[in-house]
Amino acid sequence: MTPPLTVLGIETSCDETAASVVRLGADGDVEVLSNVVASQIAAHAPYGGVVPEVAARAHVEIIDDIIAQAMTQARLGFGALDGVAATAGPGLVGGVMVGLSAGKAIALARGLPLIAVNHLEGHAVSVRLAAAAPYPFLLLLASGGHCQLLSVEGVGACERLGTTIDDAAGEAFDKIAASLGLPYPGGPALERLAAGGRADRFTLPRALLGRAGCDFSFSGLKTSAARLAAAAVVTEQDRADLANSAQSAIAAQLADRSRRAMAAYVARRQGEGLLFVVAGGVAANGVVRAALERAATDQGFAFLAPPLKYCTDNAAMIALAGAERLAAGFRDGLDAPARPRWPLDAAAALAHPTHTPGRKGAKA
Ligand code: KG4
Ligand code: ZN
Repeated sequence: MTPPLTVLGIETSCDETAASVVRLGADGDVEVLSNVVASQIAAHAPYGGVVPEVAARAHVEIIDDIIAQAMTQARLGFGALDGVAATAGPGLVGGVMVGLSAGKAIALARGLPLIAVNHLEGHAVSVRLAAAAPYPFLLLLASGGHCQLLSVEGVGACERLGTTIDDAAGEAFDKIAASLGLPYPGGPALERLAAGGRADRFTLPRALLGRAGCDFSFSGLKTSAARLAAAAVVTEQDRADLANSAQSAIAAQLADRSRRAMAAYVARRQGEGLLFVVAGGVAANGVVRAALERAATDQGFAFLAPPLKYCTDNAAMIALAGAERLAAGFRDGLDAPARPRWPLDAAAALAHPTHTPGRKGAKA
């Protein structure tokens, strides 16, 4: 299909129920006509993390209403849509099924093409919702479930340069925050607490720092911070200092691995414009952003990060990924499956698996 294209996006892969209408213009310009996000944080807070069954049930209860709100705010009827895009994975599969089924129902009822979107591809294009970010670019995707460096070549074409061998960066933020008694999700609360603390107060492990390759590891840092929280944190100042030390250690590792990826990326792109993009919930962190921007500038890259509302999970990024796919000639059948695991770069995931079936590990 040729743009302009107006696409409804639906996102239900974790603890956000979201719907959005996005218009992709003929010259690649993007207009977000609505962006509705209902957070389930209150439902999961008593458990200290996302409970899959609670999430799936909460999505079912409000998905119709959230879609209706997105259409109303966009001032459009379903007849004005060119396609329906829904997250089909990776994520909590009960929730993914809710959004994907809703998308399929609308596509079937209105005779519209369905696009089954990879949630990670949504994060990858999120920067394009608010800025002109031409392909190709180097992407750091750092969220609650993922921590990857990807060379984004174009629509649906990503090469993974590195990934976490244990926890995601957002998971490290959440677990360290929990050990400091902060509520879920811990990242934003930890950033606020860290503002009054010192980075050099506690020495925390900086895994893989300076080592070859672009992989990440956060589990040693997480355990070490949890031990310190139990043994050495007494006063409010101690808490703020540990929060700041942990945040600095995470930011330092993200920047170090990104520098390595930039060096590898430059080596094969002589003379092209160099762009480094950060996306995902952790990109909302000011200290992380600043460390990454410094790394990018040092390496001769332009730096872009999406506005905060497009860093964390939203459906506008899913709608845009869907619109770009539609314009590139992709569409999916109504039998498209919901996928708990779905690596963006299948070849890299096969060659260097970060988990085996049944084992706990990075989701993609
Ligand atoms: O992208 P996202 O909304 O969901 C996933 O796809 O995982 O990312 C959520 C993650 C959580 O781990 C949350 O703690 C983290 O992003 N996060 C932050 C901040 N805001 C959200 N981490 C550090 N600092 C923040 N300001
Ligand atoms: Zn996400």
